[in-house]
Amino acid sequence: MTGKGGTGKTTLSCALGLAYAELGYKTLVISIDFAQNIDDVLGIKLQDKPREVTRNLFAMRIDIDKEIDVYMNEVSKRLSSTFPQWSAYNLDKYLTILKYMPGVEEHVIVSKLMNILEQCENFDIVVVDTPPTGVAARLLALPEAMRRWLERLVELRQEIVKLRQALHKLEHEDPILNTLRQDLEKYSKLSNLLKTSCKISIVTTLEKLPVLEALRILKVLKELGLRVHSIVLNKYSESSGRKVVLDMILREVPSDDVKIVKIPELEEEPQGIDKLSLLKPYVENLVRT
Ligand SMILES: Nc1ncnc2c1ncn2[C@@H]1O[C@H](COP(=O)(O)OP(=O)(O)O)[C@@H](O)[C@H]1O
Ligand SMILES: [Mg+2]
Repeated sequence: MTGKGGTGKTTLSCALGLAYAELGYKTLVISIDFAQNIDDVLGIKLQDKPREVTRNLFAMRIDIDKEIDVYMNEVSKRLSSTFPQWSAYNLDKYLTILKYMPGVEEHVIVSKLMNILEQCENFDIVVVDTPPTGVAARLLALPEAMRRWLERLVELRQEIVKLRQALHKLEHEDPILNTLRQDLEKYSKLSNLLKTSCKISIVTTLEKLPVLEALRILKVLKELGLRVHSIVLNKYSESSGRKVVLDMILREVPSDDVKIVKIPELEEEPQGIDKLSLLKPYVENLVRT
C-alpha cells in the first residue's frame, strides 16, 4: 500500500490484513511509515518483531531512524576494522552526516524488509504499509537497480579474480566475490518477488494533490516494469466537487489494467479491530483479484 501521507495507507493495510486473516491466511502487516500510528490503528503496542493482534493476524513496525543508526554503527565498525586510520583521523564524526546521504534510508529499509521476509516464510500473506509515495517509489525501484548494478560488479570482480589467479597460480575463494554474489542473489529474489507475487495498491483520497501524486507514482512504477494492482479511492463520496477529480482518475488510469476500488468514509475513525472490520466488505475487492 502506498500513497500520499494521510490518505489511509496504514488504516487500509490493517483492514486488508484483517480481511486476509479472517479468510484463514496467516497474515503479517509491516508498517514502515514514518508516521508511526499503526499502534493506534490496531489498538496494540507493536515492536520490530511480529506480534499477534488477533487470530491469524500479526503486525510489526519498523522504526526507520533506529534502523539507520544500527546500520551506521555497523558501517563504522566495518570501516574501523578495515581501515584503522579511520578513527585515528577522527573520521567517525562524518557518519552523522553520512546517514543523511541520498539512498541510505531506502537501502536500510529494503535490507530490513529482506531480512524480515526471509525470517517470515511461514506467513501466507505479508501486507506492507509503505512510507509516502516519493520514498516508496525509490524503495520499489531499489531492488531492480541494485540487481543490475551488482550483476555488473560481479562480472568485474570475476575478471579481477581470474587475472589474480592466473598471476599467482592460486585457486582459493575470493570473499568479496562471495559477498557480491550473495547480495546479487538477495536483490534478484526481491526484484523478482516485486514483479511476480506482489500486489501494489496506491491509496488516494479524492482531492487534487493526492490524486496527482497517485498518478505520478503509477507512471513511475510502470516505467520500472512494476504492475500496479489497484488504485484505492479512500474516504470516497459522490459529492459534486469530487466528481472532477474522479473523472481525472478515470480518464488517466487504464481500467482494464488497474482496478479501481472505492472505500467510503466511515463516521468514526476506523481504529481497533472491531471498527477496522467495518471496512472488510470494501477491502475484500482487493483480496479477491
Ligand atoms: N475509510 C475511512 N473512513 C474514515 N476515516 C478514515 C478512513 N481511512 C482513514 N481514515 C482516517 O484518516 C486518517 C489518516 O489515515 P492513516 O491510515 O493514518 O493514513 P496514512 O497512513 O496514509 O498517513 C486517520 O485518522 C484515519 O483514522
Ligand atoms: Mg501511515
